[in-house]
Amino acid sequence: MRLEGKVALISGGARGMGAAEARLLAREGAKVVIGDLLEEEGKQVEAEINEAGGEALFITLDVTREEDWKHAIEATVRRFGTLHVLVNNAGVGGARAPDGGPIPLDGLTVEQWDRVQDVNSTGVFLGTKHAIPAMRQAGGGSIINIASIYGLVGSSGATAYHASKGAVRLFTKATAVQHAREGIRANSVHPGFIDTPMTERLRSDPERREDLVRRTPLGRIGVPADVAYGVLFLASDESSFMTGSELVIDGGYTAQ
Ligand code: NAI
Repeated sequence: MRLEGKVALISGGARGMGAAEARLLAREGAKVVIGDLLEEEGKQVEAEINEAGGEALFITLDVTREEDWKHAIEATVRRFGTLHVLVNNAGVGGARAPDGGPIPLDGLTVEQWDRVQDVNSTGVFLGTKHAIPAMRQAGGGSIINIASIYGLVGSSGATAYHASKGAVRLFTKATAVQHAREGIRANSVHPGFIDTPMTERLRSDPERREDLVRRTPLGRIGVPADVAYGVLFLASDESSFMTGSELVIDGGYTAQ
């Protein structure tokens, strides 16, 4: 029960890594709020946690809408009394060319660029903005922003995604510095390739998958639990001297 007495809000908690984080945090004693656009999947995760003896609440949340965030934080405090942990996990991969491949930088439209920044970067800002007053009231808190190894290094595609996750990395450090004296910590998490619906295309292409496995020192693709355990540590008081840091969970991919 590493999170006993804590209340956590997880954006994008209906599936993939967010759902794994919701389940694990609840198992460790946190009351969890799952905010997502996917109502059916989100309610399923909520029901699973409640049936297993935990406490969960699903809320419809579009992270790009400030009104939705206000409502999500209010609903969290109304239901569970306070807010200690925010996991800004919701994200999108970005547009692809008609053949499924990457769109070259000079072929990217402003609309495609903006959509990725809206969800991956502005969504993190809005969540943080509205969580801080509630965490201040709680006497402190932990904000965990799910960036990516693509927020640390570049690649042959995914230009808008790289920019959005790089923004999350430095936004996290600014948050950490500005709110440390209030006991509010902020850290970014940088997963490598993880098996989730977002990377389904990757999973279904055996050649690309094999190539990725070969290039990963630990010799496998990650699973959502690999990242969820990192989030659990950052959410708990075990990480109480950590703020503004970057937790890389990538099987060694960016170490070489
Ligand atoms: P996923 O696609 O399985 O799950 C993303 C969740 O975010 C979905 O439930 C989706 O409905 C939700 N979401 C998307 N837009 C939203 C919006 N506007 N408002 C509210 N919810 C929204 O993806 P996955 O892989 O679980 O990704 C979670 C986070 O991890 C994302 O931020 C992603 O960029 C990041 N990440 C993923 C990696 C991977 O290999 N799967 C690697 C590195 C980072």
